Amino acid sequence: MKALILVGGFGTRLRPLTLTVPKPLVDFANKPMILHQIEALVKAGVTDVVLAVNYKPEVMVAVLKKYEEKFGITITFSVETEPLGTAGPLALACEILGKDDSPFFVLNADVTCDYPFEDMRDFHLAHGNEGTILATKVEEPSKYGVIVTQPNNTKIDRFVEKPVEYVGNRINAGIYIFSPSILDRIELRPTSIEKEIFPAMARDMQLHTFDLEGFWMDVGQPKDFLTGTCLYLSSVAKKAPHMLVPASEPYVCGGNVLVHESAKIGKGCKIGPNVTIGPNVTVGDGVCLQRCVLMDGVQVKDYAWVKNSIVGWHSSVGRWSRLDGVTVLGDDVHVADEVYVNGASVLPHKSISSNVCEPGIVM
Ligand code: GDD
Ligand code: MG
Repeated sequence: MKALILVGGFGTRLRPLTLTVPKPLVDFANKPMILHQIEALVKAGVTDVVLAVNYKPEVMVAVLKKYEEKFGITITFSVETEPLGTAGPLALACEILGKDDSPFFVLNADVTCDYPFEDMRDFHLAHGNEGTILATKVEEPSKYGVIVTQPNNTKIDRFVEKPVEYVGNRINAGIYIFSPSILDRIELRPTSIEKEIFPAMARDMQLHTFDLEGFWMDVGQPKDFLTGTCLYLSSVAKKAPHMLVPASEPYVCGGNVLVHESAKIGKGCKIGPNVTIGPNVTVGDGVCLQRCVLMDGVQVKDYAWVKNSIVGWHSSVGRWSRLDGVTVLGDDVHVADEVYVNGASVLPHKSISSNVCEPGIVM
């Protein structure tokens, strides 16, 4: 089977992390976001993956070529010279996507869930129409594409991207499966699949919805990245608890703690709930970590407290310092001892030596 992953866009909402790597390579629960998707696709029998890229392709190529051999799949980079939106990339990759009659998956690169690819494929083949959209329910549908169907019917009547007025709360989860005939609808130009293609397919009664069970999150901005991490860890706790640190470990507080085997944790720490600690991280003594992400090479010194925050690669948090309020430290940021940082977005390579009490960007 084939799949295309939409990995374009500048990932501006996930800055400062995306100033260092493209959004799909940002570590989510200790591995690049896109690797979670590729592993699930491979498990469902996908052997041909197209990455639709328009930003920092060289970095992506270097990292992803390794996965070809590891998984025995072909990864093709389909590089846009101008951003083609969310549908144009399908036209650019039409030779691969249309090379046989079998359906193909399309994924937004920034969504996390228990990817139900096999169930989607079976459902899609059973209804026999052109497309299937994975759907989930959310409280704030205005940020997403909303799906409207008749009661007890999977056929989509209307698709409304980012509705201004409430039309429903069942939304597009950013994962699709299409029959190759969809390619006849898409021209090679910047095109929005949500605004131009889905409404037309709905009018032609060619579009179905498949309800996702379990958690879902678009992790394309820091607040949601943290929420997505919590949801993911809760799911791991149910399905693969051996991946997490056991609750019997004295430093674990409330569970859902993922620690890379190379990380070092000091004495008397309180860690959890909902914490991911990446490779080569050093956590000092008496440190308190809650609902936070520490990426590769981070150092958290003695008695620091990190809560509701993301600490980017190789950054450090000083002794007795405190991060909170969705603070995001970019790559190689250094927070001095005894400093309080609340809701700051700190650009790579900065040093912070005095308190930042109000949310904002530190450049
Ligand atoms: N190759 C390529 N080229 N990819 C692109 C481009 C482009 O020009 N523009 C955006 N993308 C990719 C992004 O990297 C992302 O993976 C995906 O397309 C969706 O773009 P976002 O910018 O993340 O869109 P969104 O989150 O506002 O809305 C989309 O996702 C929601 C679910 O999270 C829509 O599909 C909504 O309908 C959906 O509900
Ligand atoms: Mg998104």
